[in-house]
Amino acid sequence: TIERTFSIVKPDAVGRNQIGAIYHRLESAGLTIVAAKMLRLTEQQAQGFYAEHEGKPFYAPLIEFMTSGPVMVQVLEGDNAITRYRELMGKTNPEEAACGTLRADYAESTRLNAVHGSDSPESAAREIAYFFSDDEICPRD
Ligand code: CMP
Repeated sequence: TIERTFSIVKPDAVGRNQIGAIYHRLESAGLTIVAAKMLRLTEQQAQGFYAEHEGKPFYAPLIEFMTSGPVMVQVLEGDNAITRYRELMGKTNPEEAACGTLRADYAESTRLNAVHGSDSPESAAREIAYFFSDDEICPRD
């Protein structure tokens, strides 16, 4: 099944000029970027996006990190895209991420972990709609 998932290249990776390297890995893995933009998240945007983590010990530093510099937000499309992109990212903690995954190669720590990806069809739909309107999504012909 063709799915869409939501992706963020986080401030740590954008700050190291790794946007292109990460996009190359996404496209090489057969995921198609059908929408993308750069933005600097406001505190309110970051809090709303990560609302499910409110109250957890890592929430406040996560919000501070995610607003510390620009991010790239993307919609990725492809067969089984949600699971495939999660496999490509690897585990949240880069020390546990398998060799060759984005987090093994680009993340510094569990917080500064280079990329975000939706964890289910429901969160993909919510996260895509949080950042993109329908007319900003450009599927291939
Ligand atoms: P992400 O996939 O964007 O979802 C929530 C984010 O919170 C996660 O990536 C990490 O950046 C951060 N995070 C999750 N768990 C922890 C943790 N135990 N300690 C610090 N940061 C965390």
